[in-house]
Amino acid sequence: MHAPRSLSAMAVEVLNTADGRAKTALSHAHAATWRAARAAGEVIPIGETKPPLHPARPERPELLDPRELPRRRPGSSQGRIALLHAVAHIELNAVDLHWDIIARFAAVPMPMGFYDDWVKAADEESKHFNLMCDCLEALGSHYGALPAHAGMWRAAEDTNTDIFGRLAVVPMVLEARGLDVTPGMI
Ligand SMILES: [Fe+2]
Repeated sequence: MHAPRSLSAMAVEVLNTADGRAKTALSHAHAATWRAARAAGEVIPIGETKPPLHPARPERPELLDPRELPRRRPGSSQGRIALLHAVAHIELNAVDLHWDIIARFAAVPMPMGFYDDWVKAADEESKHFNLMCDCLEALGSHYGALPAHAGMWRAAEDTNTDIFGRLAVVPMVLEARGLDVTPGMI
């Protein structure tokens, strides 16, 4: 793989990769590069690379307004696939959200730990997406087989000029609310 120019350039590469498995493979590779450089005491500059307004996404799943999404039927095998599909979609959004906060606000000076943490989280979300895809495939389905929620990037767009707004709305409210529903999902 070519040598990355900066952490923000790595982030933008992930954001501009459409296929979920390819996006998460690149995310893992860039996270490993960042970790290795940090462990060796080398400096990869944060840089300033302009991220896209919307991350690249595969042609499927079709993105629908949440009101148009078919109701999930809990307990049935179709309901189980629909739930796993919705979670896979959330994980892929999380991968993009984490790389986006790095690139979008690269001009805001932050301690190195800020980047370490978001790179680590993006790496973990990439793992989650692949695990969900593996589950879907084990059940004879795949990510893209069903429509998905179109509104996921809205909060990112609404907060793309304000890092504190982004931190307050995305990780502290939306992701925290996502965690609140986990017991029921399990
Ligand atoms: Fe996750």
